[in-house]
Amino acid sequence: MLDETARLLVHGYSWLPALRRDNGTGVAHTRVMGQRAVGLSGPDAVRFFYDEDHVQRRTAIPGLVQSTLFGHHAVHTLDGAAHRKRKGLFLQAMTRPDVADLVDHTAAAWDDAVTAWRPGQRVVLFDQAARVLTRGVCRWAGVPLADADTAPVARDLTAMVDGFATLGPRHWRARRARARREAWLADVLRRVREGRLETRPGSAVDVVARHRDADGEPLEPRLAAVELLNVVRPTAAVAWFVMFAGHALHRWPEHRERLRGGDRAFAEAFVHELRRFYPFAPFLGGRAVRDLHLRGEAIPRGSLVLLDVFGQNHDGDLWGDPYAFRPQRFLDRPIGAFELIPQGGGDPVTNHRCPGEPATIALLRTLVVRLADADYAVPSQDLTISLRRIPAMVRSRFVITPTEGRT
Ligand code: HEM
Repeated sequence: MLDETARLLVHGYSWLPALRRDNGTGVAHTRVMGQRAVGLSGPDAVRFFYDEDHVQRRTAIPGLVQSTLFGHHAVHTLDGAAHRKRKGLFLQAMTRPDVADLVDHTAAAWDDAVTAWRPGQRVVLFDQAARVLTRGVCRWAGVPLADADTAPVARDLTAMVDGFATLGPRHWRARRARARREAWLADVLRRVREGRLETRPGSAVDVVARHRDADGEPLEPRLAAVELLNVVRPTAAVAWFVMFAGHALHRWPEHRERLRGGDRAFAEAFVHELRRFYPFAPFLGGRAVRDLHLRGEAIPRGSLVLLDVFGQNHDGDLWGDPYAFRPQRFLDRPIGAFELIPQGGGDPVTNHRCPGEPATIALLRTLVVRLADADYAVPSQDLTISLRRIPAMVRSRFVITPTEGRT
């Protein structure tokens, strides 16, 4: 079997769905990064993938991804009891009242930013959202951040995400950004532990500083910084969906009035459709811990198992007319734990499903309503979203020009 790594890098999001289509069972057998790999999707496959008797993470996440996106030895790479103990740290930091506070801080940062907009000014929505989210999350988490540092920190946090799936300059930018920000947060955590920096009890900084792992030991400073970054970085990455919201409101302006009107159920449905429709995480990887079968297809022990997130979120059997942007599909539709998987599937407590999903939804619900309510024009620009680029981007990063308020 030929190694498909080069084709993955060229074709991006459509690589795995195309391979799976070639086999009637929807299971693709391939090779990537010199390893045997099996691609799958569908609710039965999600259930299969999240069963630790089938698939584990420990050796599955490439060094390139750890050096940029997650950090080394992060929660993403753990299994079993060690995973659940470390996961507890994130769940403790992201309880429902914590999420509400995070949203309040971020909404305040958005309102400040919009107040400073001047008619005719060029605002790059992606960059603006990243700065707002960075300010919001740092204030909430207890990370000291001077106003002048907001833009460079936001650039670094988004660079780590932007460079995880390429070998080009974006990758090296991501590595440098990670090195800088791990050192920065390790210093913050050191000062908190030594009593030289005060932090609100229960804040993310406090929870990480005090966390004890399955071995009963505190996290050493660099690893503590890795995990604190695993709260701060993905929160800034919500900027991708704010940019996509700008794109969606421009292409389908009929949704704007309903968002402006304060229809909460519709706002939530809009957010789910954003996370389903727009490409972000392409697939998730684990490793088969024994010889397995899915739909009659053999998955040999040691194979990489790739859960096709993009493919499942655009599966016509699950989502009728999957390439139509239709928030209404989520009104009155309960969402199963194994169906809508932009942030993973299964149970966030025992599985690797994203612990930040409720926060992502709450942040977006607030920010898309504010965006729909803002007065701006969309100048001519390149609004292409290439499926070859991982992570996907609106090529212009979505530029708006504020206009005078409505009368
Ligand atoms: C895991 C996506 C926001 C923290 C994940 C996973 C995905 C994901 C796909 C992997 C699930 C798996 O491996 O099974 C996203 C997206 C976000 C987002 C698209 C929004 C842009 C957040 C936020 C946080 C967060 C706001 C803040 C706490 C994490 C952590 C993990 C994770 C710590 C690792 C969980 C584990 O391995 O058990 N996320 N996430 N994410 N996410 Fe998010």
